[in-house]
Amino acid sequence: MAGGGASISPPRGARPGPTARGFLLGLLLWLVPTCAAAEGVPESIDPEASCASKACHPDLLDRTRLHWDELLAPGQCLECHEARRKKHEFKPFDSSKRCYECHEELRERLASPRGRNQHEPVAKGECSACHDPHGSEEGWLLRAEEGLELCGGCHEDIVEGVEGEGIVHEPVEDGCGDCHDPHGARYPALMTMRIARLCEDCHDEVTELAEESPVDHGALRSKKQCMSCHVPHFSRVDALLEKPQRDTCLSCHDEKVESGEEVLVDMKRWLQVNRNWHDPVRENGCTECHEPHGSDRPRLLAKEFPRALYAPFAIERYGLCFSCHDESMVTAGETRSATKFRNGSRNLHSLHVNREERGRTCIACHEVHASSAPLQIRSYVPYGSWTMPLFFEKTERGGSCSSGCHRMRAYDRSRADAAK
Ligand code: HEC
Ligand code: HEC
Ligand code: HEC
Ligand code: HEC
Ligand code: HEC
Ligand code: HEC
Ligand code: HEC
Ligand code: HEC
Ligand code: HEC
Ligand code: HEC
Ligand code: HEC
Repeated sequence: MAGGGASISPPRGARPGPTARGFLLGLLLWLVPTCAAAEGVPESIDPEASCASKACHPDLLDRTRLHWDELLAPGQCLECHEARRKKHEFKPFDSSKRCYECHEELRERLASPRGRNQHEPVAKGECSACHDPHGSEEGWLLRAEEGLELCGGCHEDIVEGVEGEGIVHEPVEDGCGDCHDPHGARYPALMTMRIARLCEDCHDEVTELAEESPVDHGALRSKKQCMSCHVPHFSRVDALLEKPQRDTCLSCHDEKVESGEEVLVDMKRWLQVNRNWHDPVRENGCTECHEPHGSDRPRLLAKEFPRALYAPFAIERYGLCFSCHDESMVTAGETRSATKFRNGSRNLHSLHVNREERGRTCIACHEVHASSAPLQIRSYVPYGSWTMPLFFEKTERGGSCSSGCHRMRAYDRSRADAAK
């Protein structure tokens, strides 16, 4: 471990925080000749004696871990400090250059094309921003515990976010090293792996679902991958979403989106134009009905739901709607309470939907997201190549409807049961 290297001015540009404090203290100690001994500073150094004693640089004596075992042996300080001729002044050699002389492997790692993105303090040679070159209480000669303490010294916004109200991503509480390389990395944001791989390390159930589902979601294939909806550190919104769920989804569904051969509606515009929103849509709950990561069902649906206009009735087919609505609205033939869509007590939901042959499905009459007409009744129904208009009018005790299926029909809930 021969000494050597040019003497260059001390690291510059360190930010306030643990770094700058250490640096200022350092500067003070080089400029003001000092030694803990009240007697003052020795005129010359004794090559046979250690620079660290109870009288001089005593703080070095009680480091739990020294940089290397013999650091306190005579002459060792000069591995990194250049002795000036007259004064008791020992400028450290330019730290990163000197560090790299012994830590060749790190230099090579950072110089290779796979370490292309260097962390700014590393690129500036400010190794001492994070490491105490002499020794430390922490592992890896760190100036503070790795994580919020060390990194938060400069990244104050992350400390504020983590300490503020909201949800904190669990691994962030344990440090930063699970996801970031402190020196430099191949991927942006000092990421040790591609984002989806990184997340997969701990969330393989999600990435497996995404990869193995027959219906996948284009969002996960976008450039930002998981980060097109999630933030990595903390959030005020559940599930570490960047913004409230509806806004998250509409950040992409704010235009027509191609899905294979089909073109999906511009959902943001649809919701702007049709102001009568289905309750869960109003409550931000797109994932009440859709799986964001992948699904067995078309349209990423979370449960069964027939998307054709006709289907033989079975309760399981409507698992999606009946997870919130009581199935008796369709199964009860006669009722005075299970639904308002009735003529007297004759259940018109049952009449239309509950049939073996040509049972109408919910979307024959309802929009699932939002409508202009009341009660989410559609204004038109796509019927083959024809867009069939549907005229629904709500009245105080019932309503009326005319469509391509039938001429105007009216129902009245208050009617006596003679209606049968
Ligand atoms: C591995 C390189 C290295 C060795 C070995 C080394 N130093 Fe340093 N020292 C530095 C660097 C780099 C700085 C300036 C950076 C900082 O800590 O702020 C420094 C700063 C100092 C400072 C001022 C700031 C402080 O941390 O107190 C003193 C005093 C000091 N060294 C004393 C010593 C003594 C005494 C020895 C031998 C027992 C020694 N150094 C060995 C690299 C080293
Ligand atoms: C932003 C803080 C930070 C800066 C700046 C920094 N390091 Fe590190 N270093 C760490 C942390 C944290 C570790 C702990 C192990 C890990 O996560 O890789 C570490 C580990 C190391 C190790 C041992 C493990 C390894 O990766 O080889 C060496 C050697 C090292 N650093 C040298 C340096 C040198 C030389 C510089 C300046 C060019 C430097 N470090 C700058 C934070 C930093
Ligand atoms: C003269 C050679 C030399 C110089 C100069 C040097 N180191 Fe080291 N460094 C070592 C040795 C030897 C070890 C101990 C390796 C071991 O125990 O396996 C070490 C270990 C480390 C470790 C790992 C500590 C651990 O807990 O395993 C870090 C981090 C580190 N050095 C950072 C630095 C930084 C930052 C600088 C520049 C300020 C620097 N080194 C300069 C020789 C040097
Ligand atoms: C001495 C101050 C300092 C410390 C300590 C520090 N950083 Fe940084 N870090 C910076 C600066 C400066 C930048 C570049 C400007 C920015 O993005 O804020 C940066 C950028 C980053 C970036 C973004 C890099 C990019 O390419 O987008 C990440 C990630 C990061 N730091 C992580 C860490 C982690 C993890 C630690 C602790 C091991 C840490 N930082 C400690 C100063 C610091
Ligand atoms: C679970 C993985 C993970 C952990 C743990 C983690 N980060 Fe990050 N961090 C990321 C990802 C992913 C990005 C990139 C975000 C993007 O591309 O939108 C990032 C980006 C950053 C950035 C740059 C952009 C920004 O958001 O400010 C900084 C700085 C940063 N992280 C610092 C830290 C610090 C400091 C810690 C530890 C307290 C930490 N990170 C812990 C995954 C993580
Ligand atoms: C080192 C392991 C680790 C990594 C890497 C990791 N996570 Fe996590 N994540 C966890 C743990 C632990 C939890 C909390 C327990 C749980 O919900 O599984 C969690 C929770 C979450 C949650 C639910 C938060 C909530 O409160 O509802 C989301 C969303 C999440 N992580 C997304 C990500 C994304 C996106 C990435 C990649 C940038 C990622 N995670 C990387 C460990 C990790
Ligand atoms: C299209 C937006 C979007 C993308 C892209 C996305 N997620 Fe999610 N993620 C969500 C939503 C929304 C939730 C909340 C689900 C809920 O409330 O039921 C969630 C929940 C989670 C959870 C909490 C546990 C769970 O399964 O509900 C984890 C972990 C998670 N996501 C990880 C990931 C990972 C890893 C990726 C990338 C492979 C990713 N997410 C990509 C929107 C997304
Ligand atoms: C009550 C259940 C439910 C809720 C809540 C819901 N959806 Fe849907 N969504 C569906 C059903 C059912 C379909 C399939 C309809 C069809 O094929 O006619 C669908 C289809 C879609 C489609 C494809 C549209 C097309 O043109 O084929 C998109 C995009 C979509 N939903 C996005 C969203 C977003 C964004 C939210 C939250 C604002 C949301 N959904 C909330 C049930 C729901
Ligand atoms: C990063 C952009 C992006 C975000 C954010 C996003 N999507 Fe998508 N989504 C797409 C793309 C691209 C497609 C078309 C490709 C495909 O079908 O996967 C799509 C398709 C869909 C489909 C139709 C899937 C099919 O194949 O039948 C539904 C339903 C859907 N998204 C709902 C949502 C919901 C709910 C959210 C919020 C949790 C959301 N999307 C957030 C980009 C996004
Ligand atoms: C996450 C729960 C949930 C799911 C799933 C759900 N709904 Fe709803 N729906 C509600 C709530 C809450 C209301 C408002 C209270 C009510 O009328 O029961 C509502 C109201 C309605 C209304 C009446 C609208 C009005 O203006 O009063 C219709 C029609 C409707 N839902 C149809 C459906 C259809 C069709 C499905 C299946 C695709 C479905 N819902 C799935 C929760 C849900
Ligand atoms: C033939 C057209 C038609 C079909 C098919 C249809 N509905 Fe309705 N639905 C209506 C009408 C009309 C109303 C308004 C009743 C009123 O308030 O006057 C209504 C009302 C509702 C309501 C409000 C509560 C109630 O029952 O009064 C819900 C919830 C609902 N429908 C869900 C569904 C579900 C779920 C399906 C599929 C299983 C479905 N509807 C199928 C026409 C239909």
